[in-house]
Amino acid sequence: DQVSLEGYDHYMLKEIFEQPEALKNAIRGRLDEENATAIFGGLNLTPQQLRSVNRIILTGCGTSWHSALVGEYLLEEFARIPVEVEYASELRYRNPPLESDTIVFGITQSGETADTLAALREMKRKGHRTLALCNVVGSSIAQNADGGVYLHAGPEIGVASTKAYTSQCIVLALLTLYFGRLRHLSFEAGKQMIEEIKRVPAAVQEALSCDQQVREVAAKYQSATNFLYLGRQYNFPTALEGALKLKEISYIHAEGYPAAEMKHGPIALVDEQTPSVFIIPRGTVYDKVMSNMEEVHARGGPIIAITSHDDNRITEIAEDVIRIPEVPEFLQPIVSVVPLQLLSYHIALARGCDVDKPRNLAKSVTVE
Ligand code: G6P
Repeated sequence: DQVSLEGYDHYMLKEIFEQPEALKNAIRGRLDEENATAIFGGLNLTPQQLRSVNRIILTGCGTSWHSALVGEYLLEEFARIPVEVEYASELRYRNPPLESDTIVFGITQSGETADTLAALREMKRKGHRTLALCNVVGSSIAQNADGGVYLHAGPEIGVASTKAYTSQCIVLALLTLYFGRLRHLSFEAGKQMIEEIKRVPAAVQEALSCDQQVREVAAKYQSATNFLYLGRQYNFPTALEGALKLKEISYIHAEGYPAAEMKHGPIALVDEQTPSVFIIPRGTVYDKVMSNMEEVHARGGPIIAITSHDDNRITEIAEDVIRIPEVPEFLQPIVSVVPLQLLSYHIALARGCDVDKPRNLAKSVTVE
């Protein structure tokens, strides 16, 4: 590979640690502080056209589909635009009734994923504007879309996506600000979002300091055969992404679930050998997730808690508590995924797996 490891043992670890820089690059030049909004040069749509968008489809595969889920929470809450998230491979063969003012965003790190490319082509054929949220400049999807946004995350070599994911999330937050300010979002609210977005790279930097502790946690659970990842609202996609990271590189079965939905099935899996990772930063659903955590504890399941909150009860019932800095809820996915990326990395390493090139997986899947 042409990209150097720069002293890191693996590309994945390097890319995890590059996230503060990648996030800065994704934000750079995109903040319009004077007007309390964001700037996007390449959407190729006039503000009038953007204002009349009445539905957004976010589509992608794998990790990119997870950032699409984060995008759904963001755009619906702050821009008040109805959003559908679709697996690209499903969207292509479905025939959803869509109004003409629906735009379709393909989210993709590589810009080469066959399913995403095909879904966008099909949507374009039906007369929808297609936009790409993409990392690789000049890639097939970037060229085929009517417009788009680049992540500027730099090359991602590790098969398990890390910095592209957090960069997708921050760009979706910026797009939300942009769409929001064309609609309902006040100047003051826009300004506040800008201030909060600007603090994210430093918060991710701080979150990375849990690396040593996560390595110890990983050593404890490296022989587990099942993991649960549980979170709610903005951190439901984080639970899915944490579970995917573990599956991809350590080959341990893991399920990501909305924490409250656990009682409708996955709770049957809880036993002393099945760790549950709870993503429980301070926020509106904190008490609810806390009671889900109590349920797992009562059934003897070991708990790893990812939290920004100093709560004695968490310390009492969780085997391990990993601290992350506090950020507003809409930005939490970007910070709370960091310990989960590190957890999968250290577990895979401890199990002797090939972290950067896991079996059966490819960095970009160019076949259907
Ligand atoms: C592959 C990779 C994943 C990635 C997915 C989508 O499965 O292994 O890490 O999330 O493709 O890739 P894309 O480049 O479209 O984001």
